[in-house]
Amino acid sequence: MNPLLSRLQPYPFERLRQLHAGVTPPAKLRPISLGIGEPRHATPAFIKQALSESLGGLASYPATLGEPALREAMVAWVQRRYGLQLDAARQVLPVNGSREALFALAQTVIDPRRPATVVSPNPFYQIYEGAALLAGAELHYAPSDPRLNFGIDWAAVPQAVWERTQLLFVCSPGNPTGAVMGLDEWQLLFELSDRYGFVIASDECYSEIYFREEPPLGGLEAAAKLGRSDFKRLVALTSLSKRSNVPGLRSGFVAGDADILKAFLLYRTYHGSAMSPVVQAASRVAWDDEDHVVENRQLYRDKFAQVTPLLAGVMDVRLPDAGFYLWAGVPDAFDGSDTAFARELLAQYNVVVLPGSYLAREAPGPDGQPFNPGAGRVRMALVAETAECLEAAQRIVQFIQSKT
Ligand SMILES: Cc1ncc(COP(=O)(O)O)c(C=O)c1O
Repeated sequence: MNPLLSRLQPYPFERLRQLHAGVTPPAKLRPISLGIGEPRHATPAFIKQALSESLGGLASYPATLGEPALREAMVAWVQRRYGLQLDAARQVLPVNGSREALFALAQTVIDPRRPATVVSPNPFYQIYEGAALLAGAELHYAPSDPRLNFGIDWAAVPQAVWERTQLLFVCSPGNPTGAVMGLDEWQLLFELSDRYGFVIASDECYSEIYFREEPPLGGLEAAAKLGRSDFKRLVALTSLSKRSNVPGLRSGFVAGDADILKAFLLYRTYHGSAMSPVVQAASRVAWDDEDHVVENRQLYRDKFAQVTPLLAGVMDVRLPDAGFYLWAGVPDAFDGSDTAFARELLAQYNVVVLPGSYLAREAPGPDGQPFNPGAGRVRMALVAETAECLEAAQRIVQFIQSKT
């Protein structure tokens, strides 16, 4: 067996199952889950139709590079969304969702013959950690800071860490924080990447769900604005899962540094991760259409506008920049325990939320003392219909009021 497998951590939902063991929620209240961040708005009919009309594609093996028409559709979307002209032959590659791509990219860019560190936000999407560990790297966790709108103080990462860093994951808009990175932050990261030679993997799968007028800045967009039009050492990963409500389609793409993508294509050819021709056809029509994305975003905006003020009356929470999560502070009555809050909420009101500490690791903070930056917070995914999310929020309000 690969000994590195034993370094993988249990997935947050496994830990949630353990937390719920022995809890009997009240049967008179229907269960509501704000736990899992899986899009639940309807998949647009035209995407399903394109899928069913392309079943003939099952008769052939797909190329890992994807069909030219798909890459053109991706490049055209990047042009519309970010105003960038990518080379469809060299700067973009289809992937089967950003999850597998995040994992595979780490295996491609990390040189295990040298000491390797991967820098990850903390809290973070757990694939970053698993990808780093299985590539033989060590992790450095950079804490999100509530004083920086949950952004990260990259300048606080020690120089000795950057010297060993081969890969940096960033997530903007962030899961679970919803924080969007600005141009200054990107500029600092590019300077650090130039100085220390690490690759930046920019996870942007929530980029189309946002609450401000201005859409979130993309990594490639930031690079271009700063005159880095070759996207040196930068790869952006994006996905249709949230944008188009197709998490089951498994479709996204990576774009950026042509040299990295060349190596990534080689890796992917051996790994066997070509996208099915059927999925390619459906993906093409999804990238070509923006109307359904605008509608989807509006659904989230309406939902967040109704739910957030209710919860903000009883706990430390506010509208995020983007994404579909509320990242809420647990009220003092629970002594800052996110797990106690989550367990009791299920036991008394049949609502599932995810303890923030399960999404983060304990690691040294600015004062050198270890702390878990997810502790004392819970993540609530507002993915269900508005009425269901509102009912959950009302129950949470009652729950908190009953304690104070
Ligand atoms: C931050 C983040 N990145 C990547 C993914 C993976 O999404 P997909 O593989 O569906 O593109 C998720 C899914 O929840 C996520 O939250």
